[in-house]
Amino acid sequence: MQEAVEITQAKGRICRDIMSELSDWFTDRDVIEACAKAVETLPMFACVEADTIAGFVALRAHPPAAMEILVIATRRRYHRSGIGKSLLSAAEAFARSSDCKLLTVKTLAPRGRNEPQYEKTRAFYDRNGFIRAETFPTLWRESDPCLFFVKPLTSIN
Ligand SMILES: CC(C)(COP(=O)(O)OP(=O)(O)OC[C@H]1O[C@@H](n2cnc3c(N)ncnc32)[C@H](O)[C@@H]1OP(=O)(O)O)[C@@H](O)C(=O)NCCC(=O)NCCS
Repeated sequence: MQEAVEITQAKGRICRDIMSELSDWFTDRDVIEACAKAVETLPMFACVEADTIAGFVALRAHPPAAMEILVIATRRRYHRSGIGKSLLSAAEAFARSSDCKLLTVKTLAPRGRNEPQYEKTRAFYDRNGFIRAETFPTLWRESDPCLFFVKPLTSIN
């Protein structure tokens, strides 16, 4: 498995470039630009294949106990080759090193449409230790219900 490394330069450009390539998932230009702006000041980890950034994750701390995956994305041609798993490992290690107890992510909830791409995203989290904690029907907007996933990083007694 390819190990993710911390990225400190050109974070907005990397985010914009990869999100723009994933047009089945990221359809709103304003959302891409907002993410590109936000990640400039956030910790970012990426997997690099030859000269290409194959995927990245950006993290936002919610002190004292939670680390949120603000955005995670793998270029389409690298899907299902272990990049996402490496990015989650880096995110988890960073969260633990910041004394966090939870790794969280918000993604689109099922909304009664045939959207296999978003099913795949949810399956990725389901299969990597995340728990579907709550749906927020209006957090973003009514057409885009939000599903909040949580991964406990310590055993819960
Ligand atoms: C979600 C995403 C980051 C996963 O990245 P990836 O590099 O393809 O993931 P990996 O290859 O590391 O997958 C790791 C494991 O997750 C699970 N998984 C990944 N994709 C899956 C899918 N489409 N269906 C079911 N399980 C899946 C599997 O258990 C997989 O292990 P396996 O291939 O050995 O079975 C990637 O699909 C992506 O960029 N999607 C578009 C953007 C997106 O949805 N981002 C999240 C926004 S909240």
